[in-house]
Amino acid sequence: MIAEQNTLFIQHFWKDSNRTLEYYLKHMNGYEAAKKVLGGMTPDQVIDEVKKANIRGRGGAGFPMGMKWSFIPKNSEKPKYLVCNADESEPGTCKDRQIIRYTPHLLIEGLLIGSYAIGCRHAYVYIRGEYVREAQLLVAAIDEARAAGYLGKNIFGSGFDLEITVHRGAGAYICGEETGLLNSLEGKRGEPRVKPPFPAISGAFSCPTAVNNVESIANVPHVIRMGGDAFAGLGKIDKSGGTRLISLSGHVQKPGVYEMQAGSMTLRQIIDQFGGGLLNGRRLKAVIPGGSSSPVLTAEEIDVVYDVEPLMKIGTMMGSAAIMVINEDTDMVKLLLRITKFYAHESCGQCTPCREGCHWMESILHKILHGEAKPADIDLLVDVAGNIGGKTLCALGDAAAMPVQSFLKKFRPEFEAYVKGQKRHA
Ligand SMILES: Cc1cc2nc3c(=O)[nH]c(=O)nc-3n(C[C@H](O)[C@H](O)[C@H](O)COP(=O)(O)O)c2cc1C
Repeated sequence: MIAEQNTLFIQHFWKDSNRTLEYYLKHMNGYEAAKKVLGGMTPDQVIDEVKKANIRGRGGAGFPMGMKWSFIPKNSEKPKYLVCNADESEPGTCKDRQIIRYTPHLLIEGLLIGSYAIGCRHAYVYIRGEYVREAQLLVAAIDEARAAGYLGKNIFGSGFDLEITVHRGAGAYICGEETGLLNSLEGKRGEPRVKPPFPAISGAFSCPTAVNNVESIANVPHVIRMGGDAFAGLGKIDKSGGTRLISLSGHVQKPGVYEMQAGSMTLRQIIDQFGGGLLNGRRLKAVIPGGSSSPVLTAEEIDVVYDVEPLMKIGTMMGSAAIMVINEDTDMVKLLLRITKFYAHESCGQCTPCREGCHWMESILHKILHGEAKPADIDLLVDVAGNIGGKTLCALGDAAAMPVQSFLKKFRPEFEAYVKGQKRHA
């Protein structure tokens, strides 16, 4: 945990007046990092600094950001694109929204530095359709930056040009998956692409493209200002630099967006110190640690350091760092049905295992909850989940299967109670 004045983001949140260019210049050394980069660093030097910083992608997969940028071919004649993923659609996640609301210039400066590093002259921000106000705020901040000469032609007299376009989605979870997003950006159906080729070689408009999450990109000005090593040093665990924004929701006293030095707290500490413990003195039953697709943990498993590797070691994932706290009164069958309905609704339908399997899982869970299932249906549910995970073009299939598999592994008696008629849906 860090004192608020030492946070990279949170200390600037919650006040509408903080989103102006004036505030950014005065209180956040605004655009100084971009000036330093355009004034004398080579693109390779910028990428090296980002590599040293150990920024793991904040969108879900945790891929090292510097490495991703180094995959963009330098000698390609084609235009190159930096695309910011502001779709923020994994249930429970609401951190990117705060960055756009309160520190939009941090994101714009990150886009400016990142675009220079990979040779992009036109960057895109793909923002979820529901973020109407945030899209307006971001466009207003981009206009402000352009009027001040921080975007457009010959920025800081460096000869470098950049335009940023904000593209609004239409409310589809699948358009958060990076290749579904790219198709949608091009005006096509938001269906994920076959990989390879990966976006670094053939992304937006078939050109080399880096797709990065909002928080990942907004960290880049901090990296240049502090230096990659100092940024990496904020993290308490190897390979995880900087701070992490956490979306904390569910049965806690103080749900909200919080920030910690990467790897500096356990899940239990986050729930107690940030969340103020459980609501109404109820006991903890389970925690979904990284957005609704991440495998659920029991109350006994939460003394784990909250970071990518420690969570992977116990069979779950940090994902988008959206923690959902679940108390003892929660019906796990109902909760799983609710989660599964979401994935069934959001499946794009392109891959048969996901299109058919998600609906099968939803329908079996519905039967279990309504006392219409046979004991064998529980095994059928596990079997269907096993035939989705790892068998689809994108990870939406895994996202749908993992909750089912983990709920059944850890809370099976609750499902059996419905099947045996010991429990009835109220
Ligand atoms: C179904 C699905 C939905 C996703 N939704 C998002 C999202 O809303 N925001 C996001 O940043 N990444 C999302 N991702 C991850 C992206 O595909 C991609 O890994 C990420 O944007 C890369 O940025 P990063 O390296 O900075 O994390 C999603 C992935 C899948 C499979």
